Amino acid sequence: MQKIYWDLLKKNHEESKRRRIETLFESDESRFRKFSLKIEDLYFDYSKTNIDPITLSNLIKFAENSEIMKNVDAMFNGDKINVTENRSVLHTALRNFQTRNFNNLDLINKKLQVRFKSISNFCNHIRSGKKKSCSGDYFTDVVNIGIGGSELGPKLVTSALSEYHDGPKIHFVSNIDSSDINKIVKKLDPRKTLFVVSSKSFTTIETIYNAKTAIEWVCSKLGSDGMKHFVAVCASKEKALDLGVFEENIFEFEEWVGGRFSVWGPIGLPVMLAIGLNQFSEFLEGASQIDYHFKNEEASKNLPITLALIGFWHSTICNYPSRAILPYETKLQYLPTYLQQLDMESNGKSVNLKGESISYPTAPVIWGQIGTNSQHAFFQFLHQSNQIIPCEFLLGANCIDDGYYEKHHLQLIINCLAQSEALMLGIKKEETFERQRNLHHYCHGNRPSTILVYKQLTPKILGKLLALFEHRTFVEGLLWNVNSFDQWGVELGKKLATKLTEHFNKKNQKQNFSNSTLNLLYEIRKLKNNG
Ligand code: F6P
Repeated sequence: MQKIYWDLLKKNHEESKRRRIETLFESDESRFRKFSLKIEDLYFDYSKTNIDPITLSNLIKFAENSEIMKNVDAMFNGDKINVTENRSVLHTALRNFQTRNFNNLDLINKKLQVRFKSISNFCNHIRSGKKKSCSGDYFTDVVNIGIGGSELGPKLVTSALSEYHDGPKIHFVSNIDSSDINKIVKKLDPRKTLFVVSSKSFTTIETIYNAKTAIEWVCSKLGSDGMKHFVAVCASKEKALDLGVFEENIFEFEEWVGGRFSVWGPIGLPVMLAIGLNQFSEFLEGASQIDYHFKNEEASKNLPITLALIGFWHSTICNYPSRAILPYETKLQYLPTYLQQLDMESNGKSVNLKGESISYPTAPVIWGQIGTNSQHAFFQFLHQSNQIIPCEFLLGANCIDDGYYEKHHLQLIINCLAQSEALMLGIKKEETFERQRNLHHYCHGNRPSTILVYKQLTPKILGKLLALFEHRTFVEGLLWNVNSFDQWGVELGKKLATKLTEHFNKKNQKQNFSNSTLNLLYEIRKLKNNG
């Protein structure tokens, strides 16, 4: 049955090649209304894509025949849909256990209640100063040590909600490159600094190296009491205890929370410390509202499913190799990077759920930058290169800063809409000649874009946006028939790094590395030794 819709969509794509996007508005003056969705304080406009009514109908039937809703229910109910790791996928439970118990997971929800109360108390005590440092000082600075999903979510949310900060200053260390931790600790006072070591596995080499360096930095100045300045967030308590973290400072989460889906739980501790539990609960509530919408709305009015169908259409049917994420909001500067992990680590795969090789394109390359800066970086490419890149704009209707800046915000809105218009209309060849210009001024146009407008960047709306993107990723994975919740591809590089370390330390010279790697290592050692 799926093949029927797949073939129909391929036929729709062939037809779309013979028309320009703007002609779709000429044939239907209500196109804007039909190709947009309003969900409370979110407005999604996908009218500037080359999707006509027949294509949209086929996309929706394709979704309905992909048993999307059956799989959505399976996820919320805790079925082990992460089939290669035999795990449930229940990051949704982290934001629903307080308000909407629609997954009927009573035992899990009770455990989450207890854990949330514990981490909330810890957070409140740090913020109020009831829990002070070993030298009796307030904790004025918090350093999160973590990488991938143990950094990207907290870093994005902390940055996006900077207007709501009323707690300690939050810093992030992730790379094993020592400049990451060095640039932070050299400006901080160990007596007033709390370290949150965030790692689901608690084996990630970057995080363990940075944690041990931080421990040396603190305890060399404060003695062994300095370990009171360390918190661990993990799914493996024993490893945190082995590092020397006190048990009362260890906050656990379950294996059924994927790293890139983990900001809603204890991994979100830096956010809780920055904005407090009331605002963090607003963040969870926004996500919970999208969960409810996703679980109950029919496909044609379902925002995550619509986003996923458009993504599938552009990546797999139209064969566009990448997707540009363009938030016209500086506070969302880390969103493209966050979505790189969410989408490319979830769906950058070529084997289906049955273990068979896949020949069609799955996840696109995800990249992007805030607007209007991106207009001065790569919009030349978007308008005049021979590659078509679907653009996904995000835009706040209101700026979170006070009213004085309204004139700035109006220009932000105008620039976003103007770019979306320019991508569609371009400058026709005959126009360039009429204007006594040459073909160097020609802009292809006919380039698809969507615009997701939100009322303004509050904790609740940010929670909605991130839950929306998570569910879009999940649905795209269903359409591509891949497991969006494992990441076996990251293991090989880690294993080779371990072997190369043994080789470098002359512990095992029999490792079979390529001639180039071994010779380059030799040349690097020479450069190191010569200084
Ligand atoms: O990139 C691989 C990965 O396992 C991610 O999935 C994860 O978010 C990151 O590394 C960090 O893992 P951990 O939280 O276990 O340190």
